[in-house]
Amino acid sequence: MTTMVMASHRAFFLLFSFLLRFLFSESQTTFLFNACSSTKTFTANSSFQSDLTTLLSSLSSANTDFYNTTVAAGGGGEDTIYGLFMCRGDVTLQVCRQCVGTAVQRVPSMCGFSKEAIIWYDECLLRYSNRSFFSTVDTSPQTGFPLWNTGNVSGQANFKSIMFTTMNKTADEAAAAKHGLGEKMKKYATKEANISGSHQTLYSLAQCTPDLSPGDCRKCLDGAIGRLSSCCEGMAGGRVLCPSCNVRYEVFRFYRSDDQLVGTPTSILPSPPTLSSDPRVKGKGKSAPIIVIVVVCIVGTAIVFGFAYYLLKHRMKKSRRAVLRQKYFGSEGTSLEPLEFNLATIESATNKFSEESRLGKGGFGQVYKGILSNGQNIAVKRLSKGSGQGAEEFKNEVLFIARLQHINLVTLLGFCIEGQEKILVYEYVPNRSLDYFLFGSGKSKVLNWLERCKIIGGVARGILYLHDHSRLKIIHRDLKPSNILLDDEMNPKISDFGLAKMVAISENEGKTNRIAGTYGYMSPEYAMFGKYSEKSDVFSFGIITLQIISGRKNTNCHEQSKDAYSLISYVWNQWRDEKFLEILDPNLKEFGSYNEVTKCIQIGLLCVQKNPDLRPSMAKVVHYLTNDSIQLPFPQEPAFLLLGPMEPSTSGSASNESYSINEVSVSEFLPR
Ligand SMILES: *[C@@H]1O[C@H](CO)[C@@H](O)[C@H](O)[C@H]1NC(C)=O
Ligand SMILES: *[C@@H]1O[C@H](CO)[C@@H](O)[C@H](O)[C@H]1NC(C)=O
Ligand SMILES: *[C@@H]1O[C@H](CO)[C@@H](O)[C@H](O)[C@H]1NC(C)=O
Ligand SMILES: *[C@@H]1O[C@H](CO)[C@@H](O)[C@H](O)[C@H]1NC(C)=O
Ligand SMILES: *[C@@H]1O[C@H](CO)[C@@H](O)[C@H](O)[C@H]1NC(C)=O
Ligand SMILES: *[C@@H]1O[C@H](CO)[C@@H](O)[C@H](O)[C@H]1NC(C)=O
Repeated sequence: MTTMVMASHRAFFLLFSFLLRFLFSESQTTFLFNACSSTKTFTANSSFQSDLTTLLSSLSSANTDFYNTTVAAGGGGEDTIYGLFMCRGDVTLQVCRQCVGTAVQRVPSMCGFSKEAIIWYDECLLRYSNRSFFSTVDTSPQTGFPLWNTGNVSGQANFKSIMFTTMNKTADEAAAAKHGLGEKMKKYATKEANISGSHQTLYSLAQCTPDLSPGDCRKCLDGAIGRLSSCCEGMAGGRVLCPSCNVRYEVFRFYRSDDQLVGTPTSILPSPPTLSSDPRVKGKGKSAPIIVIVVVCIVGTAIVFGFAYYLLKHRMKKSRRAVLRQKYFGSEGTSLEPLEFNLATIESATNKFSEESRLGKGGFGQVYKGILSNGQNIAVKRLSKGSGQGAEEFKNEVLFIARLQHINLVTLLGFCIEGQEKILVYEYVPNRSLDYFLFGSGKSKVLNWLERCKIIGGVARGILYLHDHSRLKIIHRDLKPSNILLDDEMNPKISDFGLAKMVAISENEGKTNRIAGTYGYMSPEYAMFGKYSEKSDVFSFGIITLQIISGRKNTNCHEQSKDAYSLISYVWNQWRDEKFLEILDPNLKEFGSYNEVTKCIQIGLLCVQKNPDLRPSMAKVVHYLTNDSIQLPFPQEPAFLLLGPMEPSTSGSASNESYSINEVSVSEFLPR
């Protein structure tokens, strides 16, 4: 009886703590920014990786609001790993643990094989490195990342001086802070100030990691406040995220004040009950040995026969598949064998291509979501049966993308050809494509500036990889927002390689009679003369960049009245008149520094210049994006797209689509 009660208590407790976890894992953490080292990296399965796992798990199990730890080099590795997390001074332990938990979970996908990483959330900071950074003011990888809020400020004249005075006082207090009695020392302070001549109140916050000395903390905050004056002057809010400290001000309360803190007990999340195995269960039942022997014999025989039958059948199926592979991929067929999926596997993963698992319709068929038996999520593209259409693209996609591995390219897990079926299997990318976030009518969220920068940077690196990763250059030829997928951290992944072409690096451009791609994203030399080179991709990248910044489609004729001129000419005209902020998406509430905005626009314009030789290579673009101090060339007049004579008349039918106007893939309309 008592055991039953205990069991039901335990079940209840389990359920309860699960519910708690579920509830709190919902939305409390807000991702801000991450910085990972792209040069200091480790290799998969190295001792560093296992040490890092150890470090992260010890961080996530700490039950405080600041924690630092080290994992000494183990298993022959040379690196000691240092890691810490810090939560914002006012958040509860619950929120803190949750934020750290999220960070620990996400850091591998964000920073991959980086030996150094910092990730900022609104509620916490998590970082690790193979160099010791405890108790030092760290200025690497960069001195600080600014964010700002472009809202209204009244009483502009006083605002600046009040803001800096208050910020200075907050910093003083944070550096000297001994927060609360008996609590661990927090280097955290907040302040409020009335803005004279207005009804607004200024709220400020400063915090250092508590391992800094008061002097170092103040120095770090000084640097951050200095950055505030360059990024955020005149803005109603701003913050600077540094590795060792951060500052923020707003005209609304964005933290919990002291009196809110008192009386909210910081309850601690129950630690998950460990499900230890009960020793009493073991060692039961000693049956008669004869029965055991008989059963083993029968089962053994059955297994042997079953296995033989399976092998035979498998063989036959395999050889049939080998023939098919040969037919599609020629001599390369054999090397692709490891990528081949069974149709049965895919059917069970997608529940026989059930309607519920259908994600949408792609270029040449339906796309389904599936779950493999090992729990991995996949996206399955099933080409329209038997039509023969897309066979070329299918082959292209498998041959190209199977060889490519990059965080900004969607990963092809495999393919399946059986009977009439042609199927591509990809990693599942949880968010939708970029066009949905930029132009979607029912979109749930507006991309913020940092996410936009991240997407631009990621797309650039993905294309650079295509152009430069080996002796062969791959030209994608169909870059557009609907081919850019976003994962749940808004990392972009380029997809759809059906039209990609490979050219030798010595060969600078190709020519084709079959112009395929998407009008509006095609460079003019390609659209008009069929000449393609890496600079055609650069052109498409430029258009995408300008779309990300402006949130505008690149339509000419489908939209009404004042927007009736094309994206490029609009941006170009505003740029010439130095009305840079006019170019920005009006939905953007916050954006980075002014320099960053103009730089991104300028890069976009450089990529869409009429003369392909003037467009920068992707290597240059990535260099421009990652270096603050570089003087960019001034863009020449862009190519204003002439859509008229080239546009296939059928494309007008797309105008009733909600957000992919002018993105009709034209490969089907043109003669081969
Ligand atoms: C790492 O280990 C996993 C599992 O042990 C294995 O599947 C994978 O191929 C290994 N990767 C490398 C690069 O050795
Ligand atoms: C945490 O940081 C302090 C201050 O730098 C240092 O003395 C201590 O050894 C660190 N703790 C661990 C576990 O590394
Ligand atoms: C960290 O790792 C990088 C790359 O492996 C190495 O060059 C560097 O020396 C390491 N730093 C320390 C302090 O060990
Ligand atoms: C900004 O201030 C102006 C003038 O006070 C006001 O008309 C406008 O609505 C304000 N905008 C916002 C977003 O508060
Ligand atoms: C804030 O402090 C910095 C350095 O400590 C100083 O240069 C600056 O003038 C101060 N600003 C105000 C408004 O007090
Ligand atoms: C701001 O003004 C209100 C009254 O308008 C006053 O009660 C409050 O104390 C002032 N706060 C500060 C920080 O001066």
